[in-house]
Amino acid sequence: MRRLLVAGNWKMNGSLSFTAELISGVAARASHAAGQNPPNYDILVCPPAPYLGLAVEQSNSQSVSIAVGAQNVSSHLKGAFTGETSLPMIADLGCEYVLLGHSERREYYQESDVLVAEKFSACRSFDSSLVPVLCVGESLEEREAGKTEIVVARQIQAVLGKVGIAGFKGAVIAYEPVWAIGTGKTASPEEAQLVHEFIRNLLRDHDAKVAEEIQLLYGGSVKPDNAEQLFAQTDIDGGLIGGASLDVESFAGICEAAQKLA
Ligand code: 13P
Repeated sequence: MRRLLVAGNWKMNGSLSFTAELISGVAARASHAAGQNPPNYDILVCPPAPYLGLAVEQSNSQSVSIAVGAQNVSSHLKGAFTGETSLPMIADLGCEYVLLGHSERREYYQESDVLVAEKFSACRSFDSSLVPVLCVGESLEEREAGKTEIVVARQIQAVLGKVGIAGFKGAVIAYEPVWAIGTGKTASPEEAQLVHEFIRNLLRDHDAKVAEEIQLLYGGSVKPDNAEQLFAQTDIDGGLIGGASLDVESFAGICEAAQKLA
């Protein structure tokens, strides 16, 4: 049985005080909803790089476990790469996850499938305990042209070609249709399930066990009122949440949907 993962991608939002308050607020709500036991699903927050250290510290002082992840990382381990953040740095801070290939990185910073695969590969060879969250998804134009599966398969194949199926063991994939990100338009649970099933089957062709165990998240306008239906789908193992992760009430509401289902 796969655990559900509720992950917040803060994007370029937040501050020192926001980081401390959001984490303690979510932990308090999650702890209350779980009762005596620890939550039966996982929580992850991905703040901007300058707040990662504080986020880890703040998480460590909560009664509920909240993992911290970076939103991006360099494919190089060190050196003359001004403005970049390395894998050893985020691991040093205590991060447990790193998002790779988010559509905003692909679109605004020209991250190609090849570069994303290099980052994924660097992450796997650097430290096997740092979990890469590979983000994939099609644009509206691609969906309307019936190319969703082609695009998602291409994005995953680029990484498979670099690390092989073994590289996906313990990794996470987030399916985020670009047309649903920040638009208030969500893929219906059935639409999302179809793509998740496609992704799991694609991995199953390489290794049934890896495919069965990998957590596949859905991202794109997940809110407290649609989370439960989305997470209830057979191949959806949680969500990668943008806007709604910036508010204790709504992120905790999404966590509660996971708690109910898990
Ligand atoms: P929204 O939840 O704001 O649509 O963003 C989704 C996303 O991009 C998470 O990575």
